[in-house]
Amino acid sequence: MDFPILDTKVYNRRLVYLDNAATTQKPRQVIDALTGYYLTLNSNIHRGAHYLAAEATERYEKVRAQVGQFINARSRSEIVFTRGTTESINLVASSFGRAFLHAGDEVIVSGMEHHSNIVPWQLACELAGARLRVIPFSDEGVLDLEAYATLFNEHTKMVACTHVSNTLGTVNPVQKVVEMAHSHGVPVLIDGAQAVAHMPVDVQQIGCDFYCFSGHKMYAPMGVGVMYGREELLSQLPPYQGGGEMIKDVTFEKTTYNELPFRFEAGTPSVGDVLGLGAAIDFMQQEGVEKIGRHEEELMHYATERLLAIPGIRLFGTAPHKAGVISFLLGDAHPYDVGTLLDKLGVAVRTGHHCTQPIMDRYGIPGTVRASFACYTTRKDVDALVDALNRIAPMLL
Ligand code: ALA
Repeated sequence: MDFPILDTKVYNRRLVYLDNAATTQKPRQVIDALTGYYLTLNSNIHRGAHYLAAEATERYEKVRAQVGQFINARSRSEIVFTRGTTESINLVASSFGRAFLHAGDEVIVSGMEHHSNIVPWQLACELAGARLRVIPFSDEGVLDLEAYATLFNEHTKMVACTHVSNTLGTVNPVQKVVEMAHSHGVPVLIDGAQAVAHMPVDVQQIGCDFYCFSGHKMYAPMGVGVMYGREELLSQLPPYQGGGEMIKDVTFEKTTYNELPFRFEAGTPSVGDVLGLGAAIDFMQQEGVEKIGRHEEELMHYATERLLAIPGIRLFGTAPHKAGVISFLLGDAHPYDVGTLLDKLGVAVRTGHHCTQPIMDRYGIPGTVRASFACYTTRKDVDALVDALNRIAPMLL
């Protein structure tokens, strides 16, 4: 494993990078794939009549097939490249909303969604005159499936739920969430941003209709994401953005649209980033996705135990099934103060509401300090966090 940035010193100290839920660092082969594209292959795909364009197109399309295999899609037509999870969800909410949401309809989201899986649905609901319904969750951070079951009625048109909570670390029972929705004939979008880098994802096994994720949280560059859509439903959605590549024929009177998945990829895509995503998938498969997940889970248990031994620590998100994300508060200290002091000791964490304000409201807190793990996180990193917290606690409590 070669992550050059991890050798960086901050304030003349070893960098302890525990902000992986915000973005993971990039292994050398991903950086090489990205720079290699600009050094030797840069050209616009699907358009040029020359060698570079043909080669770049072939490699770009190869990554599409690779992504399809990675999440076990039925066909590469179901894989749409976007800029990230946020754009993927906006695409679905906007297109689905225009086609299928009407006044009086309802969209179910969970109470632990990232703003990216709330606001696009609010926008779509606002346009249609529809409304959001919310699945509550317990103090531990477990979805209340009994309450979920009661939210369905003849107006329910979509369920949007996160696979793993970026704030609480909860791994949601997405297969069950989908089964329950499908028993009412309602499609489901899963936000997989915090899942794909941490566990094997099989969209056919989950049974979801849409699955969205970002490259940059799975060791790939920023600027590329994926929207998986089950072909039967995807083919019924109107285009999201208009422009080049998404059309078959254009006249001033009428435009006909390209086939899947190109219909949803208007404009020049971020080809280098897509090739970087391919290299990131290669990296994860070499390391072993299951092995990465087991490593992070083991660290999460180790960190939980060590953190709980610090007087004044309160954890948020203690579900039995959790990924490597730990949110906490140190006494009544403001999370920002804790984060700033940790930073000065070389420990990088995220503080605040983590784009999940409804979770903070649920607990009546302004925010948390969040440590999140990746394949390269070690016990030494966790020990550094704990040592730093023990050092700053007397200043803040
Ligand atoms: N969604 C990212 C996070 O949780 C940015 O930090």
